[in-house]
Amino acid sequence: MKKITTRIVLGIAALGLATSVCAQVKPEDQIKFRKAAYSFAAWNSGKIKANLEGTYDAAQVKAAANAIAGVANSGMGALFGPGTENAIGDQKTSVKPELFTNTPLIVKHSGDFATAANALVKAADSGDVAAVKAAYGDLGKSCKACHDDFRARN
Ligand code: HEC
Repeated sequence: MKKITTRIVLGIAALGLATSVCAQVKPEDQIKFRKAAYSFAAWNSGKIKANLEGTYDAAQVKAAANAIAGVANSGMGALFGPGTENAIGDQKTSVKPELFTNTPLIVKHSGDFATAANALVKAADSGDVAAVKAAYGDLGKSCKACHDDFRARN
């Protein structure tokens, strides 16, 4: 019981820290970080695709799935703060303005992304290639669903 209480207290403290750190991210850095995070997820997604189409390296797939889940579970919402609707300086953005007003939909897409990424980690850990393939398909759908609504084509 005491252990659990300590963990909860630490968890809350960590949350508080995350909030104060996030508050310090300049708008241009929010744009920079979110583009970098999605690009990093895409790089890792490409590795999983290559494994599914070629020689399957379980360790590489696990590492890539964990990296994507890291992005999905990182609290990306903090990188879509006020003032990041449009380019700032040399930080261009292809975000659609709707993302900042349709909260229920962005929450849904972010949640689906995290669910799909976490399921992919589970599948990768199981070593069941068919399960990885299915989970990878679901992940791709979660990326596309969000892009269809909130990323402008350019
Ligand atoms: C919750 C919504 C959402 C999800 C889920 C999502 N994206 Fe995106 N993605 C965006 C938005 C919004 C942008 C535009 C960011 C900007 O330009 O400020 C973007 C941009 C990108 C970019 C371009 C980055 C750049 O440098 O301009 C890539 C690549 C990308 N996403 C890949 C992915 C992949 C791969 C996944 C799934 C593994 C994914 N995204 C999941 C919303 C999402």
